[in-house]
Parts: sequence; C-alpha cells; structure tokens
Amino acid sequence: MTETLEVLLSEEQIRERVKELAAQINRDFAGAEVLVVGILKGSFVFLADLVRYLDIPVKVDFMDVSSYGMTTESSGEVRILKDLEQPIERKNVIVVEDIIDSGTTLKFILGVLQRRRPRSLKVCTFLDKPSRRRVLVIPDYNGFSIPDHFVVGYGLDYAEQYRNLPDICIINTEQDSE
Ligand code: PRP
Repeated sequence: MTETLEVLLSEEQIRERVKELAAQINRDFAGAEVLVVGILKGSFVFLADLVRYLDIPVKVDFMDVSSYGMTTESSGEVRILKDLEQPIERKNVIVVEDIIDSGTTLKFILGVLQRRRPRSLKVCTFLDKPSRRRVLVIPDYNGFSIPDHFVVGYGLDYAEQYRNLPDICIINTEQDSE
C-alpha cells in the first residue's frame, strides 16, 4: 500500500485560524471562566494550541468515548471510556473536537453533558465535514469546513499514524501493483 499526502491546510493557515477562534472565544466569554473539554484523542493538538491563545481563566479536562462501528452508527450508540474528573454544573463548558463528521459522537457527548446542567455548553471544532452529517449538530466555533476527503495531521490519524503532522493533509492510499 502506498500512501501519498497532499497539504490541504498549511501550518500557517491553521495558526491564523486558531488565533481567530480564540479571539472569538475571548470576546464571548470576557470576564468569565471556561472549562475546555477535549475529546480524545484527535483534539489534543488543536486544544493545546487554542488554549494558549485564550486570555480568560481556563480549566482543561478530557473525555474519551468509544468509536462506533457500522452497526451502532445508525442507533447513535456511543459509550464513555473516560469521563470528566469534575462536575460541570453552572460552568461554562466548551467541547473541543478535531472534526465533526456524521455528528454522532458529538450529539451523544452533548446529551450527556447537558444533563449535568452546565451554565453554557458550546462546541468548538477545528474541522467540519457538513456533507457527511447524519444527525443535527451545529458547532458554535468552526475552524474550517472541508469537503469529504480523508484528512490526517494536526491530531487526526490514519490507523493511528500522522497525528504529529503540523499541516492538515489529504491522504490517498493506493494498492501497490506487483
Ligand atoms: C473522530 C473525531 C470525532 C469523531 C467524529 O474520532 O475525533 O470524535 O470521530 O465522527 P462523527 O461525527 O461521525 O461521530 P475517532 O473515533 O476517529 O477517534 P480519535 O479522535 O481517537 O482518533
């Protein structure tokens, strides 16, 4: 199998956009404290960059949920593998994702968190693939909307590889001819 990578979003483009998103959050939550909740694992790079441009008081926590197979996608069955370490009642929560695809994962997470009565609950995603949506989820903060390509880098993986790339790249896989 040969894998080729083509840059879709450069490190510089990403840095500028992350700064803009952080500026929006700084404005929207001026004078308040936020709890940033990263959804493992893909969000870790974006979250690390985003929080360094926030100038409001910030706490950070993480959640991990099971990815679903084809059978569970339609039913929206997702399980919590790692929960938050703190209650979120009356807190301003911003869920940070690397990408929204079908929306299944995020819809589940938002349902779980909403039941815990936060003061506010927002979504900040680095990438959005609106053409793939199966359930209604609209991010409050969105880095880039992209077409339906398989992308890697900046936290996103292909078979657990490429999360460390500084750019977002389209990955093309080709069977080697013999
Ligand atoms: C990805 C991504 C989202 C989810 C989006 O996670 O981080 O959580 O899939 O897909 P959806 O909108 O169709 O639910 P993944 O399961 O690849 O795990 P990872 O972040 O650990 O790579």
